[in-house]
Amino acid sequence: MSKEKDKVTKKISKIWGGRFYKNASKMMNNFNASIKFDKRLCFQDLELNKAHSSMLADKKIITSNENKKIQKGLKLIENEIKNDKFTFSNQLEDIHMHIEARLTELIGDAGKKIHTARSRNDQVATAFKMFVKEQLIEVEILLKQLQGSLIKQASLHVQTIMPGFTHLQIAQPITLGHHLLAYVEMFGRDRERTLDALKRLNKSPLGAAALAGTSFPIDRVKTSQKLGFSGPMENSIDAVSDRDFVFDALSLASIIMVHLSRISEELILWSSPGFGFVELPETYSTGSSIMPQKRNPDAAELIRGKTGRVAGAFLNVLTMMKGLPLAYSKDMQEDKEAFFDAYDNLVNCLMIAEGLIRELKFRPESMKKMLGLDYATATDLADYLVRECNIPFREAHSITGKIVKFAKKKNLSLEKLKLDELLSIDKRINNSVFKVLSVENSLKSKKSFGGTSPVLVKRALSKAKKKWLS
Ligand code: ARG
Repeated sequence: MSKEKDKVTKKISKIWGGRFYKNASKMMNNFNASIKFDKRLCFQDLELNKAHSSMLADKKIITSNENKKIQKGLKLIENEIKNDKFTFSNQLEDIHMHIEARLTELIGDAGKKIHTARSRNDQVATAFKMFVKEQLIEVEILLKQLQGSLIKQASLHVQTIMPGFTHLQIAQPITLGHHLLAYVEMFGRDRERTLDALKRLNKSPLGAAALAGTSFPIDRVKTSQKLGFSGPMENSIDAVSDRDFVFDALSLASIIMVHLSRISEELILWSSPGFGFVELPETYSTGSSIMPQKRNPDAAELIRGKTGRVAGAFLNVLTMMKGLPLAYSKDMQEDKEAFFDAYDNLVNCLMIAEGLIRELKFRPESMKKMLGLDYATATDLADYLVRECNIPFREAHSITGKIVKFAKKKNLSLEKLKLDELLSIDKRINNSVFKVLSVENSLKSKKSFGGTSPVLVKRALSKAKKKWLS
């Protein structure tokens, strides 16, 4: 080991080593250190330091001259980090210790006062909360952009007829626009969840100190406002013990990923030749190293695949927190890697999904073709028997079943059956039945609130635009 690093070991011992005789083993240092991942909190920690120092000066806990030096030192550190000139080392454990140690190196004794009236426990909770907040704000914007892509595609396909599925069996005719708007609603709820989490997150832990508060006359309202929070957290013990904001962020991330995974799965299915509903853009697909003809839906598959690690991160943090007594325990340091990994992937998936969806080319011919295969207007026939022939629905269902059986045997669509043939199954049927058997008429008839009739889809589209994109 170099002399440089040995020097640092002696220095770190001075931060909390007053009661120690020996330095921690190298293995323990590495095990304990979080710097390799929590350095991502550097800018939040710098802001927090600035706000804390100004408040200490305002409350005459440090002098204004000391505060000036601290602010200058923090600015220098910020530049060092931005210019890649800042040295990170496991000896200094985490980002909070790194910044404090470097501050003292740069400005001398005033730096030793920055940790007055606070602890790393409230410090890490605050810096991490600020980071999570920024990520949630970004995710909300990305969700809006994704809705924009979906709405744009929906507007091209208000009238495009496709089979709607239940159990992945052909169920009833719907329009593609209606189907895509279903996802707009889902991602809309995700946006609401994100905004809701942001509201709940918006209280600052800073000033709770280790857990009990502090004997110094600090102003928690001031620091919280300076850091963009609406106020301080009420209870100092809760402030340093709470990671609900991570639960909120990871649970909503898991839900978003499940939604992304479902649309990915549909695109994977729809782009396979059996369906042929959609052509994936070359910009978001890949080829095969062996089969020259292939275009693979890797983007959608990766999104589907990454859903597991995001949901896993949520379970990871939930389980980590499960048995923890109040207040802070070092277990909580494990919250960050799970969050970083989940949100790095979530952000990537949202951006990829947005681009992929924006560039999709749908194939209405294939959709219509599949619709002809499996008696998608059978429910319309049953409804007709109820409406026009005064037959109770359960009975109408059974009659329609018999008609489908008959048509299947003859290998004909419902529309191609002759009136005589229908009458041989039930005498109450008349010529007007043929009006309800076409796919177009089936669609038009679905006028109940939220239904798939193209007139309603058009209206839903402008409503969605106004609600989600303005
Ligand atoms: N690096 C720690 C974390 O991420 C912060 C330090 C907590 N305080 C302590 N006394 N060990 O949770």
